[in-house]
Amino acid sequence: MSADLDAMFALAKDAQAKAYAPHSRFRVGAVVGASSGRLYAGANVENAAYPVGTCAEAGAIAAMVLGGDKAIAAVLVIGDGEALCTPCGACRQRLREFAPDTAAIHIAGPEGIRRTFTLGELLPHSFGPENLP
Ligand code: THU
Repeated sequence: MSADLDAMFALAKDAQAKAYAPHSRFRVGAVVGASSGRLYAGANVENAAYPVGTCAEAGAIAAMVLGGDKAIAAVLVIGDGEALCTPCGACRQRLREFAPDTAAIHIAGPEGIRRTFTLGELLPHSFGPENLP
């Protein structure tokens, strides 16, 4: 892994350990790499009223906006289990607000990066800010 990816992986793993997921017991960590070079982490935060819970990606995006960045260059999501922990549909759209189709979305498990997609692959023909007049 490159130094950047190593840093993203380490931050995401730390965030995953802090996730609040008592209901699903599925902890997720996410890091968005802004085009400024800064990294922002998030973790899923569940709620007894299930739909109110938030995904790790949403937390990372909120941290990025608070940090003053608005352009995402790359994302890393980490989850346990054998299946790829790809962002849910709503989070693909959340990322789309700040990321181009070419942004790399790295999907990791505890052992490291498992697969890399582009946002355009995960959310083709998407609707974004440029669609609005
Ligand atoms: N989850 C995320 O935080 N990000 C993803 O990319 C997939 C799913 C969370 C939502 C919920 O807290 C738990 O994982 C189980 O769906």
